Amino acid sequence: MPRPGEPYYVTTPIYYVNGEPHLGHAYTTIAADVATRHARRCGSDVFFLTGTDEHGQKVQQAAAAAGVSPKEWADPIAARFRELAHDIEATNDFFIRTTDPEHEAFVQRFVERMRERGDLYESTYSGLYCTACEAFYNEDDLVDGRCPEHGTVPVFTEERNTFFRLSAYADALLERYAADPPFVLPQTRLNEVRSHVEGGLQDVSITRESVNWGVPLPWDASQAIYVWIDALINYTSALTYARPGEDLTARLWPARWQLLGKDILRFHAVIWPAMLLSAGYELPRQLFIHGMLAGQDGHRMSKTRGNAMDYRPVATTYGPDALRYYLLREVAFGQDGGVGYAGMHDRYHSDLANELGNLVSRSIAMVTRYRDGVIPTVAPAAELAALAAEVADAYEQRFEHLDFTGALERVWELVRALNRFVEARAPWELAKSDEPGAPAALDETLASLTEGVRVLAVLLWPYLPSKAPLMLAAIGEAADDVGFDRAVLGNGSGRSVDASGGPLFPRVDAPPA
Ligand code: MSP
Repeated sequence: MPRPGEPYYVTTPIYYVNGEPHLGHAYTTIAADVATRHARRCGSDVFFLTGTDEHGQKVQQAAAAAGVSPKEWADPIAARFRELAHDIEATNDFFIRTTDPEHEAFVQRFVERMRERGDLYESTYSGLYCTACEAFYNEDDLVDGRCPEHGTVPVFTEERNTFFRLSAYADALLERYAADPPFVLPQTRLNEVRSHVEGGLQDVSITRESVNWGVPLPWDASQAIYVWIDALINYTSALTYARPGEDLTARLWPARWQLLGKDILRFHAVIWPAMLLSAGYELPRQLFIHGMLAGQDGHRMSKTRGNAMDYRPVATTYGPDALRYYLLREVAFGQDGGVGYAGMHDRYHSDLANELGNLVSRSIAMVTRYRDGVIPTVAPAAELAALAAEVADAYEQRFEHLDFTGALERVWELVRALNRFVEARAPWELAKSDEPGAPAALDETLASLTEGVRVLAVLLWPYLPSKAPLMLAAIGEAADDVGFDRAVLGNGSGRSVDASGGPLFPRVDAPPA
């Protein structure tokens, strides 16, 4: 469990501004926000960073095609990514843009340090370049001569470049991959980078001669720092200027979690740690590599492929909480999977409106009907208290490994158990019964249900940050009482329910087209 006062720095990749944000970008930011919110409510010293990657050939080309300067192109799209974070209820503490002058100056200092370490040299590069990836490829990496990520044909490039002696860091990297806690999760991704490094590392070019939209190399302005080098450094540069007049590095570095998709695993698990070692930094504590969401055509969703889904119709139709829930529930976090409007529509109704929403509204309605709205002050049913304790415990363990899907599955065991409990106890029968034990049994039933709803709200709050407070308010609790230590099914305190709210998840007629 994240500990009170523990430094807890969480990052997402910074997204390219070659096009509008889509559901794939929303995915990582949502996951990072769930980790962030949980750590924050456990009292950790959390800092959550996201932002945009604005230099390089890809953005330069997008701007040229639109007939504007790269900066003119980047400004409104960066604003759209900022809006994305807001629209999905992300609570990032800063939004970095690689065109921030403070970042650019920091990048220059960072590569100076690598140079002082003796890790840079000049040489000629020739090879295949995929602009969509902003990466060099070997023939063997291609599938039918095409980029494995984007299906586009890479272009032959030959240039005089500055190189980073990455090969010198192979042993240090292997040492870190062997250490505990694992540098990379899930384990399969760690194995993947380990065998890549064991296969031998080549030095990498860290400048581009033909690209002028980038940070100039401090000692040779004819070269721009390669966009990936510039971009990776954001995780450290941001800490130096996110809070004016304060350098957060000593407090927050090394990062607790760096989240990213498997498409950019090698940049983060090989090049980035080697750069940090070269410049004299500690390595991040753990990287979490999630899978790729596929669009309706079954391929990885991307702007380049043209199959990207806009997150906005989903967020508008079902609400941001439902989108957060759907993405983390539908695809096991860490694996690949498909998402779509029809699946969203189904899960919204089956899981959220029916299983969760109805449980809440029935519980409130019954307290209103049978006890004039006052929740009985009796202990809840012991079997439910035991199940809730087990679920909270498992949830905590899942969160240790960012298994957000596993945690949700356990929470749903409690949702389903509560629904079965209502049916088994049949409060409507107890209310009519003349049996001497009936009133006490009804009290216990109602107290168990409202306590169940309260614990569910606490557990679900990182996923459903707007709906969970409504659940709490509906049972007369303070809407912000979401500390993790409150996830215990305990005694009712004689509160009154508030039946004035509408359904938590109102029905939606049809999915967005
Ligand atoms: N700018 C680089 C990252 C630099 S980080 C120092 C980049 N940008 S990107 O816009 O292409 O974003 C890639 C990241 O966005 C992925 O690693 C992932 O976090 C997220 N996703 C983009 N498309 C996605 C899917 N289709 N599915 C899941 N995540 C996706 O690469």
